[in-house]
Amino acid sequence: MNELDTLVESATQLFAQSATPADLENAKAQFLGKSGRVTELMKGMAQLSVDEKKSRGAAINVAKQAIEAALTARRQALADAELQVQLKAEALDVSLPGRQRGQGGLHPVSLTFERIEGIFGSMGFDVAQGPEIETDWFNFTALNTPEDHPARSMHDTFYVEGGTPEAPNLLRTHTSPMQIRHAVQHVKKHRAALDAGQSMPEVRVIAPGRTYRVDSDATHSPMFHQCEGLWIGENVSFKDLKVIFTAFCRTFFESDDLVLRFRPSFFPFTEPSAEIDIQFQTGPLAGRWLEVAGSGQVHPNVVRNMGLDPEKYIGFAFGMGMDRLTMLRYGVNDLRLFFDGDIRFLSQFQ
Ligand code: DAH
Repeated sequence: MNELDTLVESATQLFAQSATPADLENAKAQFLGKSGRVTELMKGMAQLSVDEKKSRGAAINVAKQAIEAALTARRQALADAELQVQLKAEALDVSLPGRQRGQGGLHPVSLTFERIEGIFGSMGFDVAQGPEIETDWFNFTALNTPEDHPARSMHDTFYVEGGTPEAPNLLRTHTSPMQIRHAVQHVKKHRAALDAGQSMPEVRVIAPGRTYRVDSDATHSPMFHQCEGLWIGENVSFKDLKVIFTAFCRTFFESDDLVLRFRPSFFPFTEPSAEIDIQFQTGPLAGRWLEVAGSGQVHPNVVRNMGLDPEKYIGFAFGMGMDRLTMLRYGVNDLRLFFDGDIRFLSQFQ
């Protein structure tokens, strides 16, 4: 092997040993750089004759081209290897199953809101909403429950800033304040007709929403949901309340043979008052009386606080617990499940 072949051989070897592009460029400099070995060989031709220069130059050039070819090949090999490493690191396993999106849905209590609004809507009831922070007046006094009334003690609640020191604002303990709020608005709208001695359209409204009391166990939570109902007119009777509430319960529970019982009770804002119980004829709860609402004929003092003459206007009201209705409808036995946010529980209602 002549000297030039050996040179090509050692360059090829050194290139092969270069593990990185930087190593390779250093190795290149040793052969092709300004003082590299090929360059030295070229310089060494200075003393040769013209003929010798021709043949020697050609031979050196062949060796130089071989070295350059080896360099290019090694560069390519290093670049390929780097690409392979990168591809491996960024590999996508297209056979992996995709991440599924959890399917959302309405909370069971929200489903009850929707059902109640739909059923009462079909019977000509409006839906009203009101504030959860209430004044003492709307929550108690206007509902014939003055300060010191013993019924207040059953509504232990959360007091908040605002109001007066004797009557601070509070988180409403029931949806009944909406009776007053809604009726006052209704009367205001029809004031001119009333003043002219004409009659106004009946008040027919439900008011679902959040309510609060200091209470917490398997069947009570500090925040719960109620739905108020109010029907005021010149010719409304207890029979009407019975008819619409029976129709409501039978539709809500999808049970035509459901039986209702109006059990005498007391509420300051109604007289007479009744607790409404239901009884299923079939299913796991069959035969038991289950309380679902309070109700009664709106007390004359309350009618007066609505801005109406109790001699002319009469009405009926009811208030039901939405969480309880939801529990009965779906057979849920612990109220706290509604607040846990456990997807295994919630997904059963979709
Ligand atoms: N507000 C009552 C409560 O939370 C429920 C109630 C009873 C509402 C009788 C009414 C009613 O409208 O007439 O205990």
